[in-house]
Amino acid sequence: MKFEDVKRIGVLGGGVMGGGIAQIHAIAGYPVVVRDISDEAIEATRQAVFEGKWGIKRAVEIGKLKFDDAVAAMDRVTLTTEMSDLAGCDLVFEAIPEKLDLKQAVLKELDSIVKPEAIFASNTSGFVIQEVARDVSESRKTAFIGMHYSNPVATMRMCEIVYTPESSDETVATARQLAEATGRVISMVKDTPGTYGFLLNRIFAAAYREAKAIVDAGIATPEDVDKAMISGRNWPAGFFGGRGGIGKQW
Ligand SMILES: NC(=O)c1ccc[n+]([C@@H]2O[C@H](COP(=O)([O-])OP(=O)(O)OC[C@H]3O[C@@H](n4cnc5c(N)ncnc54)[C@H](O)[C@@H]3O)[C@@H](O)[C@H]2O)c1
Repeated sequence: MKFEDVKRIGVLGGGVMGGGIAQIHAIAGYPVVVRDISDEAIEATRQAVFEGKWGIKRAVEIGKLKFDDAVAAMDRVTLTTEMSDLAGCDLVFEAIPEKLDLKQAVLKELDSIVKPEAIFASNTSGFVIQEVARDVSESRKTAFIGMHYSNPVATMRMCEIVYTPESSDETVATARQLAEATGRVISMVKDTPGTYGFLLNRIFAAAYREAKAIVDAGIATPEDVDKAMISGRNWPAGFFGGRGGIGKQW
């Protein structure tokens, strides 16, 4: 699927990440279909995307989005509990809970429903993408990729693009262009069996291990560790609850 041919976006799972992914694509001009499993979940998605702290109305209030653009973006979002409503999407993001067997089973079902040429992009926090894609058809594996966004998606501009040996060049190029169309900064990551966390979460986890070791050894208090990282490295937040800029602004 070429970037120019991506006209309609699907999102499987309308939680914290799926809602944010739907929002940035709707604002970028794409019709977006979000599928979740219950009316309650759908209502929670609607609430978060339209009215939430990082939602579209709030974007208008703080001057990030014009009123007319916000109305148009909200009109582009369709919320559904029907898997079949994703059938005509050109690229479907997977943002269901971080359970490998659940992702494999639901993606297998999705594979049989969505048109064969559509791209599947998993937002897993770190599972090996080849394992997430294990049960989809061989042809879909060429159109399977990781696109890992950060929370809250509306404000965090990062997208790790995780390519597998099967991902076609066209799939990689389309993922890049789409991420750029929503204003993301991209890091390319090679899918690597035996690992978890791609780039961002591995480095963060390593830093956290070191911070905890320093606290556990009595070298410094959690507060002093957080203060050092926030004031000395300009981190938006520390490891132990310390807050710098995060949460104060979009
Ligand atoms: N929360 C984060 O900070 C964060 C950041 C980056 C990546 N991720 C990853 O994104 C994915 C989603 O995480 P989240 O925090 O948004 O989770 P979440 O629990 O907020 O949302 C998951 C949603 O998926 C729905 N769901 C479950 N089964 C489904 C199915 N069969 N079909 C459709 N929807 C289904 C749930 O009802 C829920 O609304 C996970 O893989 C997670 O690791 C999370």
